[in-house]
Amino acid sequence: MKILGVGISGIGWCAAEHIKAFGRNPHARIVLLHGRDEDRARKKLAGYGADVSGARFTKRYEDLLESDEVDIVSITTPNHLHADQAVAAARAGKHLVVEKPTALNVRDLARIRDAVRRARVRTIVSFELHYNPYLRFVHWLRASGRLGRIRFARVQYLSRVTDWYAGWEWVRKRKTGGSHLLAAGCHAVDALRWCSGREAEEVSAYHTRFTPGYEWPTTIEVNVKLEKGALGHVTSSTDFMLPYTFGVELMGDRATVRDTLICGKDEPVDLEELRTANPFPEVKLSEGRYGSESPAIRIEARMPDSADVSHHPFQGEMDELVDAVRQGRETHLSVFDAQKTMELCLAADLSAARGGRPVRLPLIRKARAK
Ligand SMILES: NC(=O)c1ccc[n+]([C@@H]2O[C@H](COP(=O)([O-])OP(=O)(O)OC[C@H]3O[C@@H](n4cnc5c(N)ncnc54)[C@H](OP(=O)(O)O)[C@@H]3O)[C@@H](O)[C@H]2O)c1
Repeated sequence: MKILGVGISGIGWCAAEHIKAFGRNPHARIVLLHGRDEDRARKKLAGYGADVSGARFTKRYEDLLESDEVDIVSITTPNHLHADQAVAAARAGKHLVVEKPTALNVRDLARIRDAVRRARVRTIVSFELHYNPYLRFVHWLRASGRLGRIRFARVQYLSRVTDWYAGWEWVRKRKTGGSHLLAAGCHAVDALRWCSGREAEEVSAYHTRFTPGYEWPTTIEVNVKLEKGALGHVTSSTDFMLPYTFGVELMGDRATVRDTLICGKDEPVDLEELRTANPFPEVKLSEGRYGSESPAIRIEARMPDSADVSHHPFQGEMDELVDAVRQGRETHLSVFDAQKTMELCLAADLSAARGGRPVRLPLIRKARAK
């Protein structure tokens, strides 16, 4: 099968990591870059350590769509541009990487869904923490039944983003950034769904604002009514004085995970059994303590604990898309799946804007005609 050509739109911090990840995949090649200024784009990429010497540059997004050399379009522009670009690329028959948030409103989410469904192209959305070893292990632990039936799940996305961030000028504005959940905390909402295995039925949220410079509230607390009687909670904030934190808690009726600890109540979790069953060689398990006296199991793995995109596991994401295109299969992180995360974010923002009034999900109820 031929090498897949990749075109990248929006040359900045994140694009550099997409470029590196595609560059390491033997079945893909970066052929075209789309941006507003070639010198600036190439300087930025050199600064981020991304090699693009073999790729041409264009100021016209349409060139990506019209080029026979481009099989995959990767959208890494500011948030408000994603939806139109994704719809146009799907209509042109291109497979897609879409950075989060896929869209900033329900109408655009539905437009993406319809365009992708009609075009039958393959898509992947950058909730790349699905390829982080710690999160994969926690997902597996729950899916394997070792936590039992999930009763509560909590994920926290706490990242102090201010003017150090390359995209500060667009992210802090409502029109181009969206909201804290749409721009940042959607990773936590997505992890809540993926790790708990439960979809949301209703949300109720409060938000507040402390960090100057933003046009939108900078902390949101979201209560989630999940399927099968479970509850969930998400915090998305840029206000707190601590290092980047992606906190995960999953409480089942057999056992609990709190960040790097696994524990039970009356019966301790069997360390040897778990070590034998653990399918991830990069995840190590050792004896730990919960509080000062209870036995627990400590998870040692690469954690989702950095805001730096060069730390993010984009490789797994790009490898999965390339494989899906080659095999003619859907990815597990398609725009259809991501739509549920984005709807939960939009519903929470709506609830917070209404002073915490509950909002039912899904927001998009009807499937439009094919
Ligand atoms: N999945 C993740 O973990 C993750 C992490 C970080 C960011 N992201 C997402 O990635 C996207 C980009 O973020 P970033 O951090 O890379 O920001 P960034 O460094 O500001 O990069 C975006 C680039 O887009 C270019 N751009 C702006 N307006 C454009 C337009 N109208 N047409 C074409 N290009 C345009 C800008 O370059 P010029 O000014 O040179 O044109 C800018 O450098 C955002 O959607 C963000 O949410 C995702």
